[in-house]
Amino acid sequence: MTDKMWAEEIANKIFEKEKEVVARNYNRIPYTTEMGKFDDWSGDDKVCWWTNGFWAGMLWQLYHAFSDSSFMECAIGIEEKLDKNLMNYMGMDHDSGFKWLLTSGANFKLTQSEDAKNRFMLAAGNLAGRLNLKANLIRAWNDPENGDTAGWAIIDCMMNLPLLYKASELTKDPRFTQIATAHASRAMDVFIREDGSSHHIITFDPDTGNILKPLGGQGMEEGSSWTRGQSWALYGFGLSYHHTKNYKYLNTAIKVADYILSKIPTTYRIPVDYCQAKDLDWEDDTAAAITASGLLLLSDELSDIDEVRSKKYRDTAVALLKTLAAECCNWESNVDHILENCSAAYHDDHHNFAIIYGDYYFTEAILRLCKKEIFLW
Ligand code: GLY
Repeated sequence: MTDKMWAEEIANKIFEKEKEVVARNYNRIPYTTEMGKFDDWSGDDKVCWWTNGFWAGMLWQLYHAFSDSSFMECAIGIEEKLDKNLMNYMGMDHDSGFKWLLTSGANFKLTQSEDAKNRFMLAAGNLAGRLNLKANLIRAWNDPENGDTAGWAIIDCMMNLPLLYKASELTKDPRFTQIATAHASRAMDVFIREDGSSHHIITFDPDTGNILKPLGGQGMEEGSSWTRGQSWALYGFGLSYHHTKNYKYLNTAIKVADYILSKIPTTYRIPVDYCQAKDLDWEDDTAAAITASGLLLLSDELSDIDEVRSKKYRDTAVALLKTLAAECCNWESNVDHILENCSAAYHDDHHNFAIIYGDYYFTEAILRLCKKEIFLW
């Protein structure tokens, strides 16, 4: 069986399961599951959470691949609920890409909805306004108390830049791309270490732009390598190359990818941090799925440039996805999640549980492999 045929089988399995999951979760915005049932982050106190676009993104992917309108209706309902976030200034941080690329961006691409385009541009304008002009870095989070994080940028933000690239495409206004490339070029210099690994957080003086120090963030410690952060760097620089065709971003994505390939365990089960103790069983299936999807993108981008790397990245992505499908998925239709061993952060109390963005990237990567994906970044 070819890899594409294998991926088609898995895509069908996801679709069959998700038909039932959607039917019983029509009004929820899930982050994780409790006893196999989705929780709900659509309430006023949770609606601004950065992961609130992933379930809708997964539904748009499945709608596009399998044409079941219940997926589209549920996704549009989530997009409308996120208007509470759009109207909440403090809830508008750098994660607008994760939220509105996968909701309004998908909706506009598939239905040409003017409402969706309006939301998309409001989110892009807000993200653009977060660039610190001295540091050339986009501020990550807000803090209402005392501005402590005014000089914080994080590697995850590379994934949000396509909101800006696409805003320029939509409006023919280059400002958005100028802001995206200002951040990407500076991030390349300050986040990526000599060996190709990435810091999670970089702090800078928000008045002068001077770089202060890196922080370990969601990884084990500063100097270690948080696996999801590595996957954001790989995929994020790949996306900046995809949108600009600037080789410096491609070379950065390759440098990070080669670092990751040198660290992936022979089991293809991804830990929370590549530097964590070997006998610790904390895993992160989200990092595995994001890495796989990012490697597939990079493999496609390299197919005419570097055939050897292109094949190596594709083979590694397939190995990661086959391991996830065989060892880490819950295929029971009465359980709402798919991936079972995700972790939000190394120092959290809770590890190896379901997280919605793991399921999104797993679905995206499988559909990318069988060429049924709608490209949302
Ligand atoms: N963007 C936050 C995270 O990856 O956990």
